[in-house]
Amino acid sequence: MVSSSRTVKGKHVLITGGAGFIGSHLVDLLVLEEVRQLTVIDNFFLGTPSNLNGAYRQMPDLRVLHIDASDECVVREAFSRMEAVDVVFDLAVIPLPTSLERPQFCFETNVRITSVLCELLREGCFETLVHFSSSEAYGSARSIPMSEDHPLDPLTPYAASKAASDHLVRTYAATFGVDALVVRPFNNYGPRQNDQQYAGIIPTMLRCAFEGRVFTLLGDGQQTRDYIYVTDTARTALDLYKCSQARGKVVNIGSGQEISIIDLKTKIEQILGRTIPSQYRDPRPGDVRRHRADIALLKSLIAFEPQISIDEGLTRTVEFYRKRADHTLIGEH
Ligand SMILES: NC(=O)c1ccc[n+]([C@@H]2O[C@H](COP(=O)([O-])OP(=O)(O)OC[C@H]3O[C@@H](n4cnc5c(N)ncnc54)[C@H](O)[C@@H]3O)[C@@H](O)[C@H]2O)c1
Repeated sequence: MVSSSRTVKGKHVLITGGAGFIGSHLVDLLVLEEVRQLTVIDNFFLGTPSNLNGAYRQMPDLRVLHIDASDECVVREAFSRMEAVDVVFDLAVIPLPTSLERPQFCFETNVRITSVLCELLREGCFETLVHFSSSEAYGSARSIPMSEDHPLDPLTPYAASKAASDHLVRTYAATFGVDALVVRPFNNYGPRQNDQQYAGIIPTMLRCAFEGRVFTLLGDGQQTRDYIYVTDTARTALDLYKCSQARGKVVNIGSGQEISIIDLKTKIEQILGRTIPSQYRDPRPGDVRRHRADIALLKSLIAFEPQISIDEGLTRTVEFYRKRADHTLIGEH
């Protein structure tokens, strides 16, 4: 493991997509880091202001700009009005499920967001870009575990947008020598993941459980994922920024473990103490079959060990959505 480090202390940190799932947990971490200024850019496509409630309590001068990160003019204008930015964590995204209904919108928006930030970085509007990729860029595993050298073979327009954005960031680093890092998380889970339209599988399963509806499992349930708890991802991305040797690299963030969707469902049912009525349907188009991260590079750069086990993380997640369901029910009466 390498040791040299940099800091966010005293810096102006900007987070695109900071009102979303992973972004809001990253904001929670950064408010504890003595940053000079923290700015969020989010257009609330899926993120919500309430995801930032805790951060506001800690840092009342947290700035949230309700703007579209893919609109170059608007983003340039925002940068020209604010105090100099040091580092941008780029998490704004149109998610995978949207790409199955609106492929062009998803692809173009995601690539555009990255392209706008790359240009501003090249022009010196900020110093460092930490871009969030996704394991979806790999497609289904050709070899296990999946290292950063695994071919990029995206299966959905969302995955194509993630792969294209990664290439763009890397070419800007190679061509213009800008300071950019690509972190590539595997599947995240935990509190604040969107559970409405375009929701992921865990929030969908839990909503069905709490609303007494039948859960539809797409495929045979034997597809696997490498799940990592959201606060572990946020902390690891920040640690990678702090690690000077990670500059210019693409680095996987995962647990290094894989779990099938059917086993995941069984674990959730054990926590709930009951089964979730389910029906099986055809696999989702472009569903990857197998994912497990190779985290050797990550471990060579920082002292990485997931702090939250899958059992603990799922218990916390179930409690979060249970409370949310209770609030919704109270609100309805
Ligand atoms: N959730 C996962 O399992 C996972 C896994 C791997 C990688 N990632 C990556 O992590 C990042 C964050 O993902 P997430 O799960 O937190 O997603 P999310 O949908 O919860 O958050 C994304 C945020 O971006 C905002 N946004 C969307 N379009 C925007 C635009 N044009 N301008 C400004 N804001 C916009 C949304 O409102 C939302 O708050 C993404 O880059 C995603 O690809 C996520």
